[in-house]
Amino acid sequence: MTEKTDRASTLWGGRFTKGLAGDMLAFSTSLPVDWRLYREDIAGSQAHCRMLAKQGIIAQEEADTICAGLAAILEDVENGDVTLDSGRWEDVHSAIEGLLHERVGGAVAGKLHTARSRNDQVATDVRMWCRDALDSLGRQLCEFQQTLLTQAEAHAATSMPGYTHLQRAQPVTFGHHLLAYVEMFARDFARSRECRARVNVLPLGAAALAGAPYPLDREFVARELGFDAVAANSMDAVSDRDFAIEVLHACSLIMVHLSRLAAEVILWSSAEFGFVEIDDAFATGSSIMPQKKNPDAAELTRGRASRVFGDLFALLTLMEGLPLTYNRDMQEDKESLFDGVDTTAACLGIMDAVMGSLRVNATRMAEAVQGGFTTATDLADYLVRKGLPFREAHAVVGSVVRVCLDRGCGLADLSLAEYQEICDRIGADVFDAITVEGSLAARDIPGGTAPAQVKAAIVSARERLKQDQTTLS
Ligand code: ARG
Repeated sequence: MTEKTDRASTLWGGRFTKGLAGDMLAFSTSLPVDWRLYREDIAGSQAHCRMLAKQGIIAQEEADTICAGLAAILEDVENGDVTLDSGRWEDVHSAIEGLLHERVGGAVAGKLHTARSRNDQVATDVRMWCRDALDSLGRQLCEFQQTLLTQAEAHAATSMPGYTHLQRAQPVTFGHHLLAYVEMFARDFARSRECRARVNVLPLGAAALAGAPYPLDREFVARELGFDAVAANSMDAVSDRDFAIEVLHACSLIMVHLSRLAAEVILWSSAEFGFVEIDDAFATGSSIMPQKKNPDAAELTRGRASRVFGDLFALLTLMEGLPLTYNRDMQEDKESLFDGVDTTAACLGIMDAVMGSLRVNATRMAEAVQGGFTTATDLADYLVRKGLPFREAHAVVGSVVRVCLDRGCGLADLSLAEYQEICDRIGADVFDAITVEGSLAARDIPGGTAPAQVKAAIVSARERLKQDQTTLS
């Protein structure tokens, strides 16, 4: 065991007869992780302190000294003038309070923690951090939708095969395909705002777990710190980490969506597809194969999704089974939370850049959708218009496809006579019905892939986005 720590630097030395083992402080400190909350911690302390003075719990001059001391500490930290010593402090809260003691003296600094515990303090800090994180993710989600909409507009009529089971299914436009992702990220945005409403509830005033025997004005503190409400139950206020789990859940769904897009970009940029080319700025080469251009930005995004899911599960399993109220286990929440949010933000940023600079090979996309069977459903729909029940039409087209497969040709390559041999209801107008352009244009219903619908969908998505952006401060 290493040297014992100076008991005076902890916030709770009184009842102990000997110092904490150095190894124990090293084992238990969260300072390297939670120091990131210093701004929230200082703002929270200042609001709490102003409230204590307003309520006559401490003197106004004392509050002024404390608030000015905290402001000076903030300035020193931002200027890089504070050296952190995790051999001295257990966490960000002890560190800030310790620095305050050094700056204004214990007689005044010692009053800051009246009617407060680190239990409600840490919950308040983390909620403030989550609130900013959600706002920032929200801004990124809006920017990303903007980028996708710009590409969708440029390719509102660019045809490509749509896939099911990764088999060519029906013609779609590339713009329509991108708009599917716009819907996902719009839902992610909405989810982040709904989550923010539950995040933005103030724990302070709960103190350790039971509330505080002082006439606190919790609403005042809530207003000062931008919270919409105060936590209704003091025990829940210090026990609850649902809000952090929800943030990671929101991040996880963003990562599900990003990883699916990343997987498509990876496929599309392969020689086999050749649908897109990733900008050189976001691809890497091989140390042995000189010809390689690897879609690393997309691959890493896909890979990092698993990290974020891991962060979510770490937090779920951290919290399950914990008895009320605060348990030290909960200190472990921050590494997962910070990592999940940081990773999601980084992936959103890089995929925005990848998608914004993506070059689309419309010729390759057109080649892939033409010449085969992607309009087989249109042929069945043509037969329905000629009076066949859909099931029967489906069977007829199945035979047509069979004949084509035997001959090694596509639907458009059979002659009218050959078509009529299979079904006498087929006329010369069949060839218009099975063009890719005809297939696209026919899907002219809201939500469909007809270029006119895609253009209308872009207009609505832009309106929704403008509306969404007004909810960001
Ligand atoms: N550092 C702790 C955390 O992040 C907060 C301190 C609460 N500690 C305590 N002994 N009640 O969860």
